[in-house]
Amino acid sequence: MARQIQKEIQRGVESWISLGNRRPHLSIILVGDNPASHTYVRKKIQAASAVGICSEIILKPKDVSQEELLYITDQLNMDPRVTGILVQLPLPGHVDERTVCNGISPEKDVDGFHIINIGRLCLDQHSLIPATASAVWEIIKRTGIKTFGKNVVVAGRSKNVGMPIAMLLHTDGEHERPGGSEIIWYLSFSAWLISLSIIPSSSIHVVANGDATVTIAHRYTPREQLKIHTQLADIIIVAAGIPKLITSDMVKEGAAVIDVGINYVHDPVTGKTKLVGDVDFEAVRKAASFITPVPGGVGPVTVAMLLKNTLLAARKVID
Ligand code: GUN
Repeated sequence: MARQIQKEIQRGVESWISLGNRRPHLSIILVGDNPASHTYVRKKIQAASAVGICSEIILKPKDVSQEELLYITDQLNMDPRVTGILVQLPLPGHVDERTVCNGISPEKDVDGFHIINIGRLCLDQHSLIPATASAVWEIIKRTGIKTFGKNVVVAGRSKNVGMPIAMLLHTDGEHERPGGSEIIWYLSFSAWLISLSIIPSSSIHVVANGDATVTIAHRYTPREQLKIHTQLADIIIVAAGIPKLITSDMVKEGAAVIDVGINYVHDPVTGKTKLVGDVDFEAVRKAASFITPVPGGVGPVTVAMLLKNTLLAARKVID
């Protein structure tokens, strides 16, 4: 799926350039020497290059000041050559991440972390959507997993991952529609046709419309309560950062399980560190109708969705 999306973006980039436009250019600000951050940034740069997007890394030491970071974002905001900007997180403790994310112009904010993009997402307005949330949405939609009226558990309430995923899945995408009885009638009728699978959900102009009943669980949800919720869920999305948080006894037969977890654990067999998600994959796959692995599941699709945001930002199609 990630490869398919990348091919679509590559075609999009080529057709954008063939119309006489500049090649999209992504600037990534990377602070310090966190090995995971360096790995993620390398993957983003490689993927960008594969679809024809130019990119650059602006590398700063871990003692860089917040003022300098804001100066850099200001320069990039004003640079017409730069169409997309992201600051790799986490930032060192002396820097306020919210202030830095808000320092990026919302039109170039390919991570969708600017307060304007988050606000617009929450109000069903067009926005640059955080790539992990888009990836989960895309996996669900492209796989044909139904969300309308279904029970969804999102385990994890982070503002960049759990919250936007829950936003996309619970909404009808219509709250900010223009007034007028005709449009209201049209949207209600269309929603009814979608619910009966007579027309695809992509055929009407909505931002996102999961229309699911979404439960958000978090670190203070008692485990036995979490199990009660997950056993009722048609879709379980886990972004908690806890290995084996979801075990097979917590999953309803035929449920879809999407694992957003990234955990580095010691592997007693090899003696090395290995990457695992939040789901007990081998046990849960027996109950689930659909499950994403870690690595090789949500991660590559997230990178592809970041590139999609980079193309959207270059085309300035988010009004
Ligand atoms: N660190 C972990 N995930 C992300 C992400 O999606 N964007 C940025 N900027 N930093 C991250």
